Amino acid sequence: MIHKLTIATRGGNMMQVASAGNGPVLLLVHGFPLDHTMWNAQLAGLSDRFHVLAPDMRGFGVSTNFDAYSIADLADDLEHVRYHFANQKQIVVCGLSMGGYVALEYWRRHGKNLAGLILADTKPQADDENVVAARLEMAQRVVEVGSWEATRGMLPRLLSTCRATGCDTVTADLARMLRRAQPKAVAAGQQAMADRAAFDAMLKDIQIPTQVICGTHDAICTPEHTREWACKIANAQLDIIENAGHMPPMETPSAFNQVVARFLTTDASY
Ligand code: MLT
Repeated sequence: MIHKLTIATRGGNMMQVASAGNGPVLLLVHGFPLDHTMWNAQLAGLSDRFHVLAPDMRGFGVSTNFDAYSIADLADDLEHVRYHFANQKQIVVCGLSMGGYVALEYWRRHGKNLAGLILADTKPQADDENVVAARLEMAQRVVEVGSWEATRGMLPRLLSTCRATGCDTVTADLARMLRRAQPKAVAAGQQAMADRAAFDAMLKDIQIPTQVICGTHDAICTPEHTREWACKIANAQLDIIENAGHMPPMETPSAFNQVVARFLTTDASY
């Protein structure tokens, strides 16, 4: 059973967290401009063995705050969630894409509370100037034209071109999230990502068990690029998931859950 709880974070912001199951805590951090429902198959499929938590990050889903923030602020929000649900216990944080940027900041700021890290379809590098310019353009445009108009071009790039059973439901679910994202949240998210820190030089300092995951057809964070940086993390294992693009948790949930469950059971140091 999935419970939805609302907790107050710093500055009086309200954050909704989906919570399911008991056991070692797995905290899932969604991508941009999505919300916790991208993790529905993990909340359902992993909560028989683990306590799965999936927050709506600032401004997304039903969480509040459309003011400017940084990726470091989002990492501190995760620490608030950890403290609320797990108290003194260590957790595993799993972030996809933008969620991966937040997971890396969480490691840097609160790494002593991590039993392991899962980085899915993400990258440690900061953006080059063209990407920053595109982000700032979207941040401006979305307020004028609305979220769907500003973000719908992302949709084909999120998915593998395979039309496996269930693919159309995935497209519809993603479109629903893009449509319901608040323009101000999209703008604040783009600004925060444009300003984020580079982690490439810090990968060698990650000593905790780490699982890296990437879809074979991910056009945003490609497997080739992921292989290049994953091998710089001492304790990292890389799994490339067949028939998935940028969204393996939604496109190929069984394969994704299998990799995560194996990592939590055999590698994470809870
Ligand atoms: C995401 O899926 O979170 C975005 O593609 C991240 C980004 O824009 O860098």
